[in-house]
Formats: sequence, C-alpha cells, structure tokens
Amino acid sequence: MATWSNLNYQNSASPLMEQIIFFHDHTLVILIMITILVAYLMMNLFFNNYINRFLLEGQMIELIWTILPAITLIFIALPSLRLLYLLDELNNPLITLKSIGHQWYWSYEYSDFNNIEFDSYMIQSSENLNNFRLLDVDNRIILPMNNQIRILVTATDVIHSWTIPSLGVKIDANPGRLNQTSFFINRPGIYYGQCSEICGANHSFMPIVIESIPMKNLINWINNNSLDD
Ligand code: CUA
Repeated sequence: MATWSNLNYQNSASPLMEQIIFFHDHTLVILIMITILVAYLMMNLFFNNYINRFLLEGQMIELIWTILPAITLIFIALPSLRLLYLLDELNNPLITLKSIGHQWYWSYEYSDFNNIEFDSYMIQSSENLNNFRLLDVDNRIILPMNNQIRILVTATDVIHSWTIPSLGVKIDANPGRLNQTSFFINRPGIYYGQCSEICGANHSFMPIVIESIPMKNLINWINNNSLDD
C-alpha cells in the first residue's frame, strides 16, 4: 500500500509487477547516464573559450552521435516489448473475476461458481477505526494466493480504471466493452487500489481492495456466500 511521501513503486506482490519494477530500474539507470553526460557537455559549452570559424562538415561525429542514441533506444525498446507481451499473456487462469465500474463504486461477479455478486463501496474511516482513510471498502474482493487469476473489466456509465499498483494491474473499464487481464498474487495480504480514469465528482472515492487468502479459505468463503445455498 502507498504510504506517506513514497515516490517509488510500491513493493510487488505479483511476478508481473516485479518485472515492471526491474524494467523501471533498468530504464532509470540509462536515463541517469544520459542526463549526466548531457549536463557535463552543456557545462563545458558554457565555460569553453575555443572558437572554430571554419567548422562546416563533420560527417564522422554526426554519424556517431546519430547511431549511438539509436542503439541506446534499442536497449530500452526490446525489454519494453518483452514486458508488454508478458502483461498481455493469459496462463490457464483458475478463477475469473468480473469487475464492473459504476459512478461511483465497483461491483464484482464470480461467475465460475453459483454466481456470487456484490457491490463494493468506500467506507468512512469513522465506521471502523482499523481502516485506511479513503482506501477501504465495505465488501472486499476475495482471491486465492498462488493462482493465476483472470479479471474481466467493464463499466456501466463512464470510463473507469481498475488499478492495483502492487499487483501491476491497470486496466480501463469501458461501457460496452469487456477488457481482460490476469495476475498472480504470490503472498497472502490485503492490496489496495483506486480508480485511475477521471470519471466524475467522486472519482477519488471508489477504491478497490483485494484480500488474498489460501485456497481452502477461499472455498469456505464461496460455500458461505453462493446464492444457491
Ligand atoms: Cu471511476 Cu475514476
């Protein structure tokens, strides 16, 4: 979960988020190297006293300073593409959760079972002192840890976005369209997210909360909540 004045990524709770953080660090190192080099060159330009009145053609240096940035960009583009395709891949999901965005709350459906469905509204911190302000909901999503999970996302009114930073998930919820993504939670815990498409007055007040629990507890939960019982 995000804590005060944290400017970095949250710790990852899924393999994909781990890869996203690796890519971020890799790109940041390249960026810092370029920034230092350019800053050094600019500083030199300000302080040098040399002039060259006859400088016109410089084919070799222009060739070098055109090709070098192109090679640098390849070192960013190839890992970026690898990540893009990894994020898009579905690996035999065990369970499917459908998330529907509304103004201004999320509702969820577990269609694999006896169709568990519920709304998930933000709750006031005063309702329960153990809650995080503006981040907790009345009905949390329950999902099994150590399993591939498929998420289907859509909306009923305007565009929302189902986003959980620690799991590396950020997918738009569009009316009339069903988007798909998947993730794998590698430890038990509670994961917080927020809508991240500006969707109206209460955009900030439709958080997402996932409880990741062992499979046997999930089966218990399903037995206690399915509509047929
Ligand atoms: Cu829903 Cu922003």
